[in-house]
Amino acid sequence: RLLIIDFGSQVTQLIARRLRELNVYCEIHPYQNVTDAFLEEFAPKAVIFSGGPDSVTREGSPRPPKKVYDLGVPILGICYGQQVMMQDLGGKVVGGEGTSEFGRAWVQPTEERIDLLNGWFLEGTGREQAWMSHGDHVAALAPGFKPYGTSPGAPFAVTADLERRFYAVQFHPEVHHTPNGKTLYENFIRDAGFTGDWTMDAYRDEAIRKIREQVGDRKVICGLSGGVDSSVAAVLIHEAIGDNLTCVFVDHGLLRLNEADEVVKMFRDHYNIPLIHADETELFLGELEGVSDPETKRKTIGRLFIDVFQKYAGEIDGAEFLAQGTLYPDVIESVSFSGGPSVTIKSHHNVGGLPEKMGLKLVEPLRELFKDEVRALGRELGLPDSFIGRHPFPGPGLAIRCPGEITRDKLEILRKADAVYIDQIRKHGLYDEIWQAFAAILPMRTVGVMGDGRTYDYALGLRAVTSVDGMTADYYPFSHDFLGETSTRIINEVKGINRVFYDCTSKPPGTIELE
Ligand code: XMP
Repeated sequence: RLLIIDFGSQVTQLIARRLRELNVYCEIHPYQNVTDAFLEEFAPKAVIFSGGPDSVTREGSPRPPKKVYDLGVPILGICYGQQVMMQDLGGKVVGGEGTSEFGRAWVQPTEERIDLLNGWFLEGTGREQAWMSHGDHVAALAPGFKPYGTSPGAPFAVTADLERRFYAVQFHPEVHHTPNGKTLYENFIRDAGFTGDWTMDAYRDEAIRKIREQVGDRKVICGLSGGVDSSVAAVLIHEAIGDNLTCVFVDHGLLRLNEADEVVKMFRDHYNIPLIHADETELFLGELEGVSDPETKRKTIGRLFIDVFQKYAGEIDGAEFLAQGTLYPDVIESVSFSGGPSVTIKSHHNVGGLPEKMGLKLVEPLRELFKDEVRALGRELGLPDSFIGRHPFPGPGLAIRCPGEITRDKLEILRKADAVYIDQIRKHGLYDEIWQAFAAILPMRTVGVMGDGRTYDYALGLRAVTSVDGMTADYYPFSHDFLGETSTRIINEVKGINRVFYDCTSKPPGTIELE
């Protein structure tokens, strides 16, 4: 296994992700925990030093134990990690004016080539794009090191001591803006003797071991939403600790057709996981009566959700942990945006304050994973493909797909119409091409004619978007035939709708949901 020593970079998890993609097992450990004894026990086959926000020129800045250089295994230092390595081994790092470099840089090879860079430089151009983000830079290499790649701002963009198999790069090969960076990791792990035989199956076992270690024989509560993340977290934790897990499924009455039943059935009957079905439809719909402002709706639902969850969770005796399906992108977002000056576009359904309020510790077994990895883990745990591939569904549910005031009638019409729309998409084999598709019932009635009669019914909006992360999105270009057929089916099959619109707004300027 490979050890990543974390010096605090925002993108350390991306290193782990690149390695998992190459089927290498790795663990990230903060530098404070990496002692001589730790190294001995961990016995890494290779080590990576992450980047970090500090400056090695500062007294007392983070360091690895010196012993790491005596293990006889390959080491790769990235950015701050490069500077640490240079300074530890007798080179020189300088900071201050004129030493920083941020953003795109082109790295060129030196005359002498190394295996680490095999296949990395673009054929023909003899250079490759790399992402730099550093304040200090290396001014003199440590003995034994030579430069193998340079950039205008970093003469020592790529350096190595081939004898000891120590490599150090100034840029970040793990980020998206170093497009071919995976090649570097591939070369590095090959040099370290990894065969790339690690799989999600092994990840599952490791995650289970860690949950057991953290929780022991104490009790865990998990808030289940019916979405992929909380479901995968619940099934994984149940495998680890069995019936010491209880799930609380808050049903706000704003779910899609048959959704609540399906969730209950899957968890209770299929997985035998203890589940409390907190059906609080009356409470939620009651409080939402007459509310039409989008933010008030969201805040009302958020507040009730926390109250209800607390009430039901309080009935579980002796629970000490709260499980959450937090993913890595949630972790980065909350780090980089916390306290920032950004405007609130929508207050997202957020149970962030719950653990402190209830005096619970957190279990977040998916914290290191990205969405597609969670899906792979879900498959590993036997969750059905149809469930794992489901489009995201927002916490406030159908409330935000029912612009203006919510009524039970509208919700019922919306559920039926949405089901027909999704059925159409599945039948045409388009579901997996689309990030998210749903119907919204518009706050207007329009005149129509059906048979010989006049109708005065609701209009329905259809939305479908492509996206990679929900942050930006484009509308999905359905064929006219598809739209025509879908509109006909909805109007014929769902009483209460006499007109269908297709939303062809991208995000920005629109958002994905209507409210
Ligand atoms: P918007 O509408 O902001 O949505 O473009 C981006 C993504 O987030 C989902 N969404 C939510 N998810 N709680 C959630 O868990 C919420 O309050 C919420 N609001 C929007 C939305 O469905 C889309 O995937």
